[in-house]
Amino acid sequence: MESPIVSPSLLSADYGNLQRDIELINESEADWLHLDIMDGVFVPNITFGQPVLKMVRKHLKKDMDVHLMIVQPEKFLNDFKEIGVDRITVHYETCVHIHRTIYEIKKAGMKAGVALNPGTPVCMLRDIIKDLDMVLIMTVNPGFGGQDFIMHSLDKIKETKALIEETGSHALIQMDGGANKETAPLLVNAGVDVLVAGSYVFKSADPKATIHELKALRKC
Ligand code: DX5
Ligand code: ZN
Repeated sequence: MESPIVSPSLLSADYGNLQRDIELINESEADWLHLDIMDGVFVPNITFGQPVLKMVRKHLKKDMDVHLMIVQPEKFLNDFKEIGVDRITVHYETCVHIHRTIYEIKKAGMKAGVALNPGTPVCMLRDIIKDLDMVLIMTVNPGFGGQDFIMHSLDKIKETKALIEETGSHALIQMDGGANKETAPLLVNAGVDVLVAGSYVFKSADPKATIHELKALRKC
């Protein structure tokens, strides 16, 4: 039985000590680092952009898993490629030409993911699921760390897994929001391949031990 991929979210790190927190991730069992880009338009919050991503790339030894919560994400794909981003996830709700955007991400040599807000049904992915490297099921409304997990997301994860199996897609299933000691095992049982955890990792007394605990879960 396999461990889930663990992608701690930098959103809850200490921004006065970013290099220290990136080194903590390098020394941990984390597989990727999740980076939340917010524009204050698609979501009611603003985070960081290219200069911070460049600095992260300089120090980080793991994959950069970038979650774009911005309108018109296609405008910035080449910037992210030049920085050395490995994986880009765009929101279904921000892309009029989602199929084109997925292919632009892949053409630039990055892995392509599509995220669904809690109010967007899984069936919207049917015609693109085979083109995707990853589906991100938002388990909170995007915008902030530390929010409560939406229980209905577990049904959406099971539905996504069934769609992937039915179509023969190779997409990974990622979740984002509200992962903790109670919800992480439920998520892995429901079919999640990639656990994102922000506050649960960075606000814990021992982030490396918390990452280890998430890696110790087993997919069935
Ligand atoms: C929220 C972000 C998340 C956030 C999750 O919009 O996309 O990645 O960091 O935070 P937690 O794990 O604290 O719910
Ligand atoms: Zn995120």
